[in-house]
Amino acid sequence: MEFLSMIPENQINHAAVKDHLHIFTSSCVLEALVMLYMSSDKRNKDCAKESIQEFITSIRFMLPQPVSSQFVPLVLELCKMLQSAAGYDDSLYKLCRGSLGVMVKNAKNYHSGDDDDDDNKVIISLQDMFPFAAELANKLSRGLVSSVESPSNFGPLRGDVNDFMAFMKPLKTAVKYQVVSPRPMLPSNSKFTDAINKAAVKYQVGSPRPILPPNSKFTDAINKIKFLYVLFDGLLTTLVACLKKMEVLVIEKKENGGWDQYLVILKELHDISKLYRGGEEYFWTNLKDFKRSLCHLIVRYAIRDEDYGWILQQKDAINFESRRHLVMLLFPVVMDENDDIHEMLINRTQLLAESFVYIAHEDPDRLRSGLFMEFKDEEATGPGVLREWFFLLSQEIFNPKTGLFVACPNDPRRFFPNPASRADPLDLEYFNFAGRVIALALMNRVPVGIVFDRSFFLQLAGKNVSLEDIKDVDPFLYSSCRKILDMDPLAVDEDALGLTFVWNVDKLGAMDVVELCPGGKNMIVNSKNRKTYVDLLIHHCFVVSVAEQISHFARGFTDIVGGENILKMFFSSLTLEDFDKMLHGSETDISVVDWKAHTDYEGYSPTDPQIYWFWKIVEEMTGEQRKVLLFFWISMKYLPVEGFGGLTSRLYIYKSKESFDHLPSSHTCFYQICLPAYPSMDVMKNRLNVITQHHVGCSFGTS
Ligand SMILES: *[C@@H]1O[C@H](CO)[C@@H](O)[C@H](O)[C@H]1NC(C)=O
Repeated sequence: MEFLSMIPENQINHAAVKDHLHIFTSSCVLEALVMLYMSSDKRNKDCAKESIQEFITSIRFMLPQPVSSQFVPLVLELCKMLQSAAGYDDSLYKLCRGSLGVMVKNAKNYHSGDDDDDDNKVIISLQDMFPFAAELANKLSRGLVSSVESPSNFGPLRGDVNDFMAFMKPLKTAVKYQVVSPRPMLPSNSKFTDAINKAAVKYQVGSPRPILPPNSKFTDAINKIKFLYVLFDGLLTTLVACLKKMEVLVIEKKENGGWDQYLVILKELHDISKLYRGGEEYFWTNLKDFKRSLCHLIVRYAIRDEDYGWILQQKDAINFESRRHLVMLLFPVVMDENDDIHEMLINRTQLLAESFVYIAHEDPDRLRSGLFMEFKDEEATGPGVLREWFFLLSQEIFNPKTGLFVACPNDPRRFFPNPASRADPLDLEYFNFAGRVIALALMNRVPVGIVFDRSFFLQLAGKNVSLEDIKDVDPFLYSSCRKILDMDPLAVDEDALGLTFVWNVDKLGAMDVVELCPGGKNMIVNSKNRKTYVDLLIHHCFVVSVAEQISHFARGFTDIVGGENILKMFFSSLTLEDFDKMLHGSETDISVVDWKAHTDYEGYSPTDPQIYWFWKIVEEMTGEQRKVLLFFWISMKYLPVEGFGGLTSRLYIYKSKESFDHLPSSHTCFYQICLPAYPSMDVMKNRLNVITQHHVGCSFGTS
């Protein structure tokens, strides 16, 4: 401690710090401590251990960054000594190795590839790190292999994975900066050196980058490229072999312990793969047969606040459930027990306007922490009513009569912002509100029975809209544009189209001419520019004309998810079909078999005649009647895509004490329907009919 406190005041003076350190090294303190540590006398050993720990902690946490970087060579020496004296598995050695990794990772000049800053130079080469990196890679490999051998085995340990990544970071940076463009070719077998050399030649000759390493350093760079690649490929090969075994274990539902670090290691390998030309393709080709394992790992081990963009961008690598799982992790946590819950009391006949008041300007934190919903003059409260509210409200927001959205002519479930809706400035606030409601519905996992048009969806994902994307929303414009593009070029050039670069908009009865580009009125559409014309037209009609609406919607959605980057990440990680499934819910008819399998009885036994009649009646119902009954029972008209298994609870049929002239009642929060013991199937059918015919969005239920 005394030595550390004597470090020259002026810490920018690196030469002085170096001299000071030199005195320390030449005094052989570290050698002495390691000798003491190896002593057979426990007191000696403990004393040395404590000193070394103290020393490491002090330089890591008490010294400013530039000074502690100067200690890297010292810690390196200490690591080497401990390793040869006490072995790889010694806990003190591991502590030192971990600290070395972190110090190297944080040292500035490994990050820029910039050699000019000699003052701040760390005086060990990356080559010195190789043995540690290799040791850790081996350790991870062994962990991976053991994790698929026996359920009682450990897998790779989090600490080792962290250390590994720490050592990888400067190495990756070095490779990235020292070999700029082109990236080194992915080596194939024995041609490795050859490929590297070729890349190197190109690099020397053609690179536009100014910071070329001087020739003497060249071999050094090549060595890093090779070394990193060998580590990468070795670890990837092991991992692939383990995933292969895992495929079988997952099918057999034999979960082994120690799989929690797989995704972290995979992400690191993916990161390294990007440094090599063709590396990413190589990485994904290796993984393509192990989709089941990958999906299992995601659903089981993916955690909040970790970045999964690398796997989400690879749409084929995983399935819908895994993608949904990952994007749901992007949402902030919903607190269940929170005092700050947002209470709403809404008049059913004023659903849209009153909900707007409660949601549009409320602090998003409050909305996220929980919603409590009650209809005026109705007793029911709880999650069932909340689901009902989400469903009814979404239906109303997207109802074409409301004027905010229009339905696609080819598919009336799909909606697109109404370009004419800007007339009223309040409308834009309503788009913001709509964005909030949809985000909240997704967050609370309530399927609301509507879906978005492709062009709307793409814009939320920050992507372009092209002709093929507007098929559903405007089939008429789509086919006209197709015709223009498919026409005989000669006919187009003879001005058979009679078109210029303008678009006529019907604005409240009067025609408004909009130029698609400056001077568009005088530009005639010909065979050469027709593609541009179509692109501009699509851009105008589906991007420009609804840009404000979409940006307000996006802002509302962002309020809830907590950042624009999350909004983009959310939509770009999903396919339109994924999003359909999440927002709309299951499209298939409700299966009675599945329904029955997820229903329990209270007061009735499964063999009672009433239960037999009940399912018989449900079987005979139309798809729509079943949906209404389901809505009455649990306040959901659409099930999650998994069917009843995707609900948070099983369903219940209660035997009600009421006489049989009563209608069934429900407690939607608890997924309960209460059936009086009706004397015959006809009576029961008659009572259930009342429900399925008249239960149009108004609660009979109480809870
Ligand atoms: C709901 O609003 C309607 C129309 O303003 C009104 O007639 C009705 O009394 C209100 N209901 C309640 C319970 O306040």
